[in-house]
Amino acid sequence: MRFINLGSRQDASHYVAIEMFKEIHYNKCTLLGLATGGTMKDVYLKLVELLQVNHTDISCLETFNLDEYFMLDKNDPNSYMTYMKQHLFDKIGMKESQFHLPDNDEIDVEEDNEAYDQAIREKGPLHIQLLGIGENGHIGFNEPGTPFNSKTRLVDLTETTIAANSRYFEDEEEVPTKAISMGIDTILSSERIILLALGEKKAEIMAKLYSMKAPDELIPASSLLTHKNVEIVMDNATARLI
Ligand code: GLP
Repeated sequence: MRFINLGSRQDASHYVAIEMFKEIHYNKCTLLGLATGGTMKDVYLKLVELLQVNHTDISCLETFNLDEYFMLDKNDPNSYMTYMKQHLFDKIGMKESQFHLPDNDEIDVEEDNEAYDQAIREKGPLHIQLLGIGENGHIGFNEPGTPFNSKTRLVDLTETTIAANSRYFEDEEEVPTKAISMGIDTILSSERIILLALGEKKAEIMAKLYSMKAPDELIPASSLLTHKNVEIVMDNATARLI
């Protein structure tokens, strides 16, 4: 696991965008695992610019997102589908058949989750899995205590995650308490993993992760210690306690 402090928020975001761009540009049929959250906005902004400036052929690109809120309408302004369309899919003209987010309705939940993992297994491995991190060390929506062999499934969000996510919702009552998340085992099946952490609020969890010698299920991001190709990209604010 390599920890890389790139100084500014912009340089860290651009590094990640460039790595993803290179994969898409030079490996025509790229499979990407995508993440949402405030952290990723500048990554997608730069990635879109690079793909457009270089006239990259994206017709064979296919993506799988990490998570989606349970039972939130796909067109809700806070759904991860809306986020992805706004920041990436619509901007580069991806077709519906090219992007996948976990099915988040209440019908056939287990079957749909198994099908999501199976699709990743059959098409995969994902060339790059992009990750953010929660203040409690969650990746995707795999909260502390999640077994490292977990697959895509319905999860209950913790109080701290619900509180952190509430900043995006107008009314606290509207903040979803459940989500469908790609499992840790599914994440670890990717060829390469890039975790981006930006800002002061991620400094404590990053210092903790940096000090860990062995994985611990209470810190989901520590599962990455078992993977051989992981970069943890930070800005100065996140790296300040390291
Ligand atoms: C949510 C997402 C995570 C993301 C985290 C951090 O919990 N499910 O995938 O990493 O938020 O989000 P932000 O980048 O807004 O801090």
